[in-house]
Amino acid sequence: MSRRFAGKVAFITGGATGIGRAFAQALGNEGAAVALADVDWEGANQAAAELDGPTTRAIGLPCDVADNRSVQRAVADAVTELGGIDLLINNAARHLKKFNRGFSSLTPEEIRDLFDVNVIGIVTCSLACRSSMRERGGGVILNMASSAAFMPTTPYGVSKLAVRGLTVALANEFAADGIRVNAVAPTLTPTESVLAEFSEQEFESSIKNRQLIQRRAALDDVTNTMLFLCSEDAAFITGETIRVTGGAALSV
Ligand SMILES: NC(=O)c1ccc[n+]([C@@H]2O[C@H](COP(=O)([O-])OP(=O)(O)OC[C@H]3O[C@@H](n4cnc5c(N)ncnc54)[C@H](O)[C@@H]3O)[C@@H](O)[C@H]2O)c1
Repeated sequence: MSRRFAGKVAFITGGATGIGRAFAQALGNEGAAVALADVDWEGANQAAAELDGPTTRAIGLPCDVADNRSVQRAVADAVTELGGIDLLINNAARHLKKFNRGFSSLTPEEIRDLFDVNVIGIVTCSLACRSSMRERGGGVILNMASSAAFMPTTPYGVSKLAVRGLTVALANEFAADGIRVNAVAPTLTPTESVLAEFSEQEFESSIKNRQLIQRRAALDDVTNTMLFLCSEDAAFITGETIRVTGGAALSV
C-alpha cells in the first residue's frame, strides 16, 4: 500500500458515515491523520475509534458546519490535536429526497437550512482552515458536489450548482496560498442513508435511463477520484468539478 499522504492531516466534515467515512479510511490507509467532524459526534467518535490504529490516527469532533462558532472550535481542536490541516473535505450536506422536490414543497426555514449547510458551510469551513494550510505551505480543499449540480431543477441541485461555483471562486481566492480547490460530483451512490431512502427500482431506473455505464456506482469509484484530486498527481488541477457518474448528466 502506498503512503502518499504520510504526514498529512485531513479535516473531513460529515465524516461519521457514508462517503466521508469511506474517504477517511482511504486516506488513513495511505498514511494521513483524519479528523472526522460531524453533528453526529457519537457517530464520528465511533468511526474514529474504528479507524484509529497503529498506522492511522483518527479523532472525532463535534461540528455543525452551519454554525461558525462550532466550525472554529472544531478546526482549532483538530490543529491542536493533529498539528495542523493540509486537506479539507467539505462533504457534509443535506441531500435526501425531501430536498429533491420543488422549492414550494419546503418551508422557508427548510430552504435556508439547506443552503446554510450545503453552501455556507463550505465557505465557513474553507475560511476556517485556510490559515493552517497557508502556514504548512499550501493544501487541498475538496468539495462534494453532485450529478444534480448539472441539472439544477431542485433545491438540492441548486445548492450543488453553488458548490461548483464556490469551487471556482475559492480556487481563485486561495491560489496565492498554494491551496488547490476541486470538487467531485457523484451520481447516486449506495451509502447507508441513500439505501434507506431509495428503492431498488429507483436505483435501477437511474442507471438504465441516465448512465452510459450500466452498473451502480461503488464507494471506491468516488473515493479513488477523491484520492487522485487530493494527491500530487493532481498538482496542476484546480477549480474543477469532476463527474463520477458512469456517463450520466453529460448534457449540461
Ligand atoms: N450518496 C450519494 O448518492 C451522493 C450522490 C451525490 C453527492 N453526494 C454528496 O456526497 C456527500 C456525502 O453523501 P453521503 O451519502 O455519504 O451522506 P450521508 O448522509 O451518509 O452522510 C452525511 C454526514 O454528514 C453529517 N452532517 C449532516 N449535516 C451536517 C452538518 N450541518 N454539520 C456537520 N455534519 C453534518 C451527517 O451527520 C452524516 O454523518 C454529500 O455532500 C452529498 O450531497 C452523495
